[in-house]
Amino acid sequence: MKRNALPFLVSLLLFIPTCFVAAQTSKDQATQQKIAAVIKQLTLEEKIAMLHANGIFGTAGVPRLNIPGLMTDDGPLGVREDVLEGWGSAKLTTDSATYFPNGSALAATWNPALSYDYGRAVGEEARARKKYVMLAPAFNIARTPLNGRTYEYLSEDPYLNAKLAVQSVKGIQSQNIAACVKHYALNNQEIARGSVSVEIDERAMQEIYLPAFKATIIEGNAWTIMSAYNKLRGVYCSENPYLLKTILKEQWGFKGIVISDWGGTHTTVAAANNGLDLEMGSNPPYNTYYFADPLLKAVKEGKVSVATIDEKVGRILWVMYHTTMSENPPAGSINTAAHSKTAYDIATESIVLLKNEKNMLPLNTAKIKSVAVIGDNAIRTNHLGGFGAGVKARYEITPLKGLENKLDKNTTIKFAQGYRAIVKSKENFNAIETSKADPALIAEAAALAKSSELTILFVGANRDYESESRDRPDLSLPFGEQQLIDAVLAANPNTIIVVTAGAPYAINKVKSQSSTIVWNWYNGSENGNALADVLTGKVNPSGKMPFTFPADLKESPAHALNAYPGDSVVTYKEGILVGYRWFDTKKIAPLYPFGYGLSYTNYAYAGLKTDKPSYKTNETITASLTISNTGNYSGKEIVQLYVSKPNSAVARADKELKAFTKVLVNKAGKAEVKLTIPVKDLAYYDTKSSKWIVEPGTYKILVGSSSAQINQTASITVQ
Ligand code: BGC
Repeated sequence: MKRNALPFLVSLLLFIPTCFVAAQTSKDQATQQKIAAVIKQLTLEEKIAMLHANGIFGTAGVPRLNIPGLMTDDGPLGVREDVLEGWGSAKLTTDSATYFPNGSALAATWNPALSYDYGRAVGEEARARKKYVMLAPAFNIARTPLNGRTYEYLSEDPYLNAKLAVQSVKGIQSQNIAACVKHYALNNQEIARGSVSVEIDERAMQEIYLPAFKATIIEGNAWTIMSAYNKLRGVYCSENPYLLKTILKEQWGFKGIVISDWGGTHTTVAAANNGLDLEMGSNPPYNTYYFADPLLKAVKEGKVSVATIDEKVGRILWVMYHTTMSENPPAGSINTAAHSKTAYDIATESIVLLKNEKNMLPLNTAKIKSVAVIGDNAIRTNHLGGFGAGVKARYEITPLKGLENKLDKNTTIKFAQGYRAIVKSKENFNAIETSKADPALIAEAAALAKSSELTILFVGANRDYESESRDRPDLSLPFGEQQLIDAVLAANPNTIIVVTAGAPYAINKVKSQSSTIVWNWYNGSENGNALADVLTGKVNPSGKMPFTFPADLKESPAHALNAYPGDSVVTYKEGILVGYRWFDTKKIAPLYPFGYGLSYTNYAYAGLKTDKPSYKTNETITASLTISNTGNYSGKEIVQLYVSKPNSAVARADKELKAFTKVLVNKAGKAEVKLTIPVKDLAYYDTKSSKWIVEPGTYKILVGSSSAQINQTASITVQ
């Protein structure tokens, strides 16, 4: 390079980002001008028509000005099938889609890149289906393992939640489809979700329940957000000025649309003046909605200003200019091989190996002559089920089909159902009745297990059992499964147990009686193929638990403190001590800790050091260490970094997750891992000053393979 070329190159490199920012700003200004021009032309009636549903998932546009309605659709499992008034299937032949692994499965991958891929694939499918707002991702904190929607959500940890949710949002929006992050906020139980008021101290709210929402708005730039059904401190989330105006719009600078949860609006004037932008719901007549005729009346009476209406319309148009009315939008695609591959990748990386004491796994496929596949979950599909959003999957490979696809052709596979999995609603939807153990099915299964070399026993839940709109009554395995497990293990100890579920269960007895346990999820269209590839060792398991399994529900924080489900009020007495923060601080050993999961190989951690001994609050800590693969298989390890603050001036959790990475380490190989933590992330929320404060002093850096397995420690000082 010529010597005088260097300054030129440097100034060119500096110039390009400046140009980009300038271009962006002028584009934003142009959009704002277009919006202002449109608003000028709209009548008040036309504006109001844009602020409420006129169908289950859509709003009316303004045909006179070629403004389309806004079409939304559920997530998070994929793009939902089309429904008719009353929620019945529209019975189309054009609305099948790829079914993606459920939220807790995605979280168990601990892989933000896969979360982005998921988002992009869903965005592409939404575009192909002409749905411009995807009601996903959903990531309310797993406060109690009983929450019926635990399977839809991600984790009990705000940091893991945020890292994954931000990427899903970016992926969806890369297709000019708006993500709708939900449910804002504190919707941590389904029991009484439409009426219960959450009482929570400000610090717990800021440190545990809001960070992922904040990250998806500020870093992820999510274009829409869904207000939750419940109340916060006595005020419905859909009309809560503190949540919607102060925090979301003022502090976080949210520019998009606040959409109510379906039927979750309760007033006209308060909701309109306190920050709700769009009222959605399921049932006609739509003109009677709070944001329809009553809103028109309220404006005419001067209770809601025209400026407030214009602001809402402006937000809706702003989102439309990024989505429905965006220039040169991507084409969209649906049910592609690439989307199946994404579903498969997530599924394979989500499966958690809980126990492999006799090294039965991976299966030696060439040697096995006969396999008994037992359990309803081996043949069940989960793309639909229960109450709430599902996907009409183009296809879903069941575990039995996956094993038939992947096991040696000379292996005989026989199936027995083992248990019936019937879930019936009782007098109302919230009470259910489930089928009990069936002695004849158990006897048949035990006989098959006895006559087979190997048994793979599928138990767990299904999507009829884990459902929106109700919580589980307890953590026990449903459908009398424990009796089946006892009988099958007695008939053939050479049994692998595969549990399929989306939330923690009391598998204490299974843990003690069985040598081999694999945890699977509602794992999408490629479920069976992914599972079979993990069982046969084509893929080394690398998933880790995104939540704690309590040894006893009574030891789980909300339950230990008798702070669930509340009556008209639920008080979050555990404060910041949610999930492992509680178990670690109180020194209670869980059944399976947060971050737990085994592999077919072993990893050794060594040489943890930080780049400096001492940091200022505006600096970033870089911790590095070496992970060696000491076993016989290549694999991916999830390296977790927790921080602890001894002798803090405020009450703190024993430790908090502050960084993680998933790293491929080849057989007999090593990987150098670097983890970064901005010092500002060590702050606690000070309720007196309403500020985040980084305490000076010593912090411990703890790196390990789960919250309970810390392998390396270091110390740093903050000045
Ligand atoms: C759920 C939302 C969902 C909406 C539309 C509500 O019952 O809480 O998550 O997006 O229905 O189906």
